[in-house]
Amino acid sequence: MSDQPAPPVIEITGLHKSFGDLHVLRGVDLRAEAGGVVSLIGSSGSGKSTLLRCANLLEDSQQGRIAFEGEEVQWRGTGPHRQPADSHQVRRIRTNLSMVFQQFNLWAHMTILQNVMEAPVTVLGRDKQEVEEAARGYLDKVGIGDKCDAWPAQLSGGQQQRAAIARALCMEPRALLFDEPTSALDPELEQEVVRVIKALAAEGRTMVLVTHDMRLARDLSDHVVFLHQGLIEEEGPPEALFGTPQSARLQQFLSHTTSQ
Ligand SMILES: Nc1ncnc2c1ncn2[C@@H]1O[C@H](COP(=O)(O)OP(=O)(O)OP(=O)(O)O)[C@@H](O)[C@H]1O
Ligand SMILES: [Mg+2]
Repeated sequence: MSDQPAPPVIEITGLHKSFGDLHVLRGVDLRAEAGGVVSLIGSSGSGKSTLLRCANLLEDSQQGRIAFEGEEVQWRGTGPHRQPADSHQVRRIRTNLSMVFQQFNLWAHMTILQNVMEAPVTVLGRDKQEVEEAARGYLDKVGIGDKCDAWPAQLSGGQQQRAAIARALCMEPRALLFDEPTSALDPELEQEVVRVIKALAAEGRTMVLVTHDMRLARDLSDHVVFLHQGLIEEEGPPEALFGTPQSARLQQFLSHTTSQ
């Protein structure tokens, strides 16, 4: 066996992404090591969600390298015509990078249990009974094991978000990508979700977290990336980034956030 360290789960180098004339990512690097937690911070419109969506290939990008566990994404075409070349590879990578969104995105017409079971059964073709057992386990883990038969509309926002996290976990992904998972929630519901996210980090799950919650980013991350207008303005360990920010832009950004 090789004693080389495992490759990063996600490694992005020099990524460029435009929407038409709008150049949103202008050469961004991002690296999530196995078991590491990376937080992305930055003002609205700086490109955080776009970067996350490019990482799991929900969005095409025009230039730069994306690798998943050392496996390079294969492209066909260049610039505005660039697309992933291998749909099987895209599917494999996407199902291994489960995303949790700000607005939960649960299916309203399915019970909580059905929501959690849906993708592993239909996308991955796993055995239904095994998936049900796993799904119940993940719902227990996030503290809503008693809500299996409820409909999403019957749950609080915090419970819905925890269901969405159980759904992401049930894919047994290699990494979880969170896009502002707590920002649609009232403060007390936010804490229920923060507790779950912290427990997942403590388990050694690989995570990339876009958050406006500087305290969460500080407590949870091994590495924090500050994006500004599609470029990394500053990055480093949380103590350094929050304790002794170097760039004027980061200093200004932090002075406008309340919960550091
Ligand atoms: N599908 C799209 N089509 C066109 N422009 C888009 C699209 N998605 C994002 N943008 C633009 O790209 C820029 C970056 O958006 P993005 O959503 O990545 O920002 P963000 O950092 O996540 O902001 P926020 O903190 O408000 O969520 C913005 O100017 C946005 O308007
Ligand atoms: Mg966003």
